[in-house]
Amino acid sequence: TEIDVQNLRSPICCILGHVDSGKTTLLDQIRGTDVQGGEAGGITQQIGATYFPADNIKERTKELRADAKLKVPGLLVIDTPGHQSFTNLRSRGSGLCDIAVLVVDIMHGLEPQTIESLNLLKMRNTEFIIALNKVDRLYGWKVFPNAPIQQSLKQQSDNVQSEFKWRLTDIITQFKEQGLNTELYYKNKEMGETYSIVPTSAVTGEGIPDLLLLLLKWAQKTMVEKLTFKDELQSTVLEVKVIEGLGTTIDVVLVNGVLRVGDQIVVCGLEGPIVTVVRALLTPHPMKELRVKGKYMKHKEIKAAQFFKVAAPGLKHAIAGTALYVVENLDDLEDVKEVVMED
Ligand code: GTP
Ligand code: MG
Ligand code: NA
Repeated sequence: TEIDVQNLRSPICCILGHVDSGKTTLLDQIRGTDVQGGEAGGITQQIGATYFPADNIKERTKELRADAKLKVPGLLVIDTPGHQSFTNLRSRGSGLCDIAVLVVDIMHGLEPQTIESLNLLKMRNTEFIIALNKVDRLYGWKVFPNAPIQQSLKQQSDNVQSEFKWRLTDIITQFKEQGLNTELYYKNKEMGETYSIVPTSAVTGEGIPDLLLLLLKWAQKTMVEKLTFKDELQSTVLEVKVIEGLGTTIDVVLVNGVLRVGDQIVVCGLEGPIVTVVRALLTPHPMKELRVKGKYMKHKEIKAAQFFKVAAPGLKHAIAGTALYVVENLDDLEDVKEVVMED
């Protein structure tokens, strides 16, 4: 069936995995940033998100022939913490996404939060791809910066290839023990039944083109219905934060619909529903992350899917993890106030 190109929203992709498997570094590699280097102890402690415009992804995947025409406007990627104490944030992130990447450290295999993440994905029936990260740590690995992974693997020594093979086989067995069939993505003939593994290095960029292309192709192929833009607002508050000069703001994921400056909104608050008016809609510059301090871009309206900051009066007691509603019609206000507190 022909896809209505005009009307697809960007897929939302959540990155999950055990602490230090390389989730944030993978995103840094794609963005050309160093968010990970700025984190306290190198540990992610909150949800982050980045919007990757389709043009950027095209550039990054051009060596893999762009026969897969990108039909979505971009990809919204949500970074989550892998530390064991942040189960709630992993759950929140995985609850929002259309598709996910489960990051596994090739030197460590499946670890406790890999399995926890896997169970969150299974529970929600979320499609995901496995990034088998840190391949550059295989002993004697020769680096081919940003190369597609098959190109790079082909040029490794016999020793590296055999270490790769036994570690991969081991990890496939570990997944099997979790009830999951997995296979290298370029050997996988039954996507959907068998989960695809993409070997990557967040440090050298090897395998990143493969990961991006597979994510978008898979999303476009299997989720057209889900990714067709809908007017009805679907939005979640991910963080509540005080920002100098703005007061208390909320970081919001917009899954569907459009939010505008001047919209009357209702969010769930500790002391009851908060009814307020959107004063500013702020995003970071393209390819930057919202949680890193910097200059914001101001927008009059934002169309899904996006992650952005909302400044509005009275947000002090807003609760993260709850839905945001727009009051379309004043007569509905009381109903909306009731619904918002059900979260
Ligand atoms: P949390 O968010 O705290 O769960 O960790 P994370 O999964 O985001 O991992 P992070 O990006 O913080 O990386 C952890 C460490 O592994 C850092 O020192 C990275 O430089 C290193 N690292 C990440 N990916 C790779 C990789 O592909 N190769 C190598 N050699 N090191 C990597
Ligand atoms: Mg991280
Ligand atoms: Na880390």
